[in-house]
Amino acid sequence: MVEGLTGSRLPQSQVDQQIRELEARLVREQDRVPAQVVHDWVERARARFARARVLTFVPILVERAVRAEFRAVAPRHSSGERLADWARRTARGILAVELPRRWAHTQGVAERAEEVARVLSPEEGDVLVASAWLHDIGYASALNVLGFHQLDGARFLAEHGVARRVCALVAHHAGAAAVAELEGLGPQLAEFEDERGPVRDALWYADMTTSPDGLRVSFADRMAELRGRRGPEDPVVRALAVNGAERAAAVRRTEQLLSRHAVPA
Ligand SMILES: [Fe+2]
Repeated sequence: MVEGLTGSRLPQSQVDQQIRELEARLVREQDRVPAQVVHDWVERARARFARARVLTFVPILVERAVRAEFRAVAPRHSSGERLADWARRTARGILAVELPRRWAHTQGVAERAEEVARVLSPEEGDVLVASAWLHDIGYASALNVLGFHQLDGARFLAEHGVARRVCALVAHHAGAAAVAELEGLGPQLAEFEDERGPVRDALWYADMTTSPDGLRVSFADRMAELRGRRGPEDPVVRALAVNGAERAAAVRRTEQLLSRHAVPA
């Protein structure tokens, strides 16, 4: 064990330093909450845990408490704004700093979704593009409750008053149902209805023809990348035996939709 880093022997000055660094990181990670407010939250959480017997845990407890505050103040969508614009701002605030690669992927998925949206009605297109921006926000640590990104993201959105349909599209994207079954989360996922149709197909298509870095790739290459990156034991990979055909069908139907409108896939 490293002397000075264990139990209550961690010096107060070191805890102070860790908390200052934590505060700076929390301010940098997002642009929704002013720095002074973050500071107040940090101080309030610190006061709560000031009598903790093991000082080592104080920064962790403070971080957890402040992240809960962030979750509680996520801006609600107002009817005056295009849903997709709100979704882009929200996703950027949640992903861009903490998970830049995931943010690059998300931007690519939204671009693909915009292409499909052009052949849908404006309302359907708005729902599709908003869902594309939001589909992976559940990977952010602030939202991670179950460790199941589709459901963590969908629940976060539902808690913040986002249209139920968008929450449900996020919950079920990319074959979530089969993965949830393997993870024992089927009943929780069933909180959200799994719609069928071109918007759902297009969200899956956009996600599964975009690389982790946001580049356009074929469905086959994306699935090969997914298998290679996650490995055969990963539930997402194991679930391909159940949802692989469904994923492929969603991509095929969207490509057919695009070709009927003479849009290159
Ligand atoms: Fe994705």
